[in-house]
Amino acid sequence: MELRQKGDDEMALIIYGTQYGTSKQYAEQLATITGDSVIDSRHLPKELPEAHVIFVGSVYAGRMTGLKKVLQVLAPERNELTVVTVGMTDARSEELVAGIHQPIAAKVAEKKISLRGCYHLQGKVNYDGLALKHKLVIKPMVAAFKKKPANELDEQAKMLLRAFDQTNANEPTIDFAVLAERMT
Ligand SMILES: Cc1cc2nc3c(=O)[nH]c(=O)nc-3n(C[C@H](O)[C@H](O)[C@H](O)COP(=O)(O)O)c2cc1C
Repeated sequence: MELRQKGDDEMALIIYGTQYGTSKQYAEQLATITGDSVIDSRHLPKELPEAHVIFVGSVYAGRMTGLKKVLQVLAPERNELTVVTVGMTDARSEELVAGIHQPIAAKVAEKKISLRGCYHLQGKVNYDGLALKHKLVIKPMVAAFKKKPANELDEQAKMLLRAFDQTNANEPTIDFAVLAERMT
């Protein structure tokens, strides 16, 4: 897909918030298409030169990695924000995705920052590579879900079971050109 060449004042800054690198990888893949600069949410300057900020961050127990830091440097009179969440929640489930985006949108609104849009990308999990603090959360949860009959599990539980009951990360297919086009 051919994207229109952007002028200097239309360039965005892509910020990522990550724990295991998926969101960084996605932010960089998106930047190869948009031509925008990419920066880690842990290394932000006090003020951002670009008016439009695209924040790509992973979701852990409903919270977006790095969101607080990003909101600290955004100014309502200067910046606009696009949010891209990365998580195991199925991107096709409008209800579950809305459940992730609603509290984020509320935090953005609290800061009076204009929100251009919210998108969700399928994340990745490699159980073996998780830090102990994360394994300690996941293990009892998966064990409890496995004890229940499948028809008693809700969609969120089924999603988590699928995501974590495997030892190797599955590589989701994401069309970053389509995402970039939707954001313009
Ligand atoms: C302890 C833990 C909690 C998680 N909680 C959620 C969640 O609430 N919603 C979701 O969609 N994904 C959740 N995930 C999946 C991560 O968001 C997913 O693995 C993502 O790709 C991680 O991105 P990162 O490598 O950029 O940190 C969780 C993963 C772990 C290990």
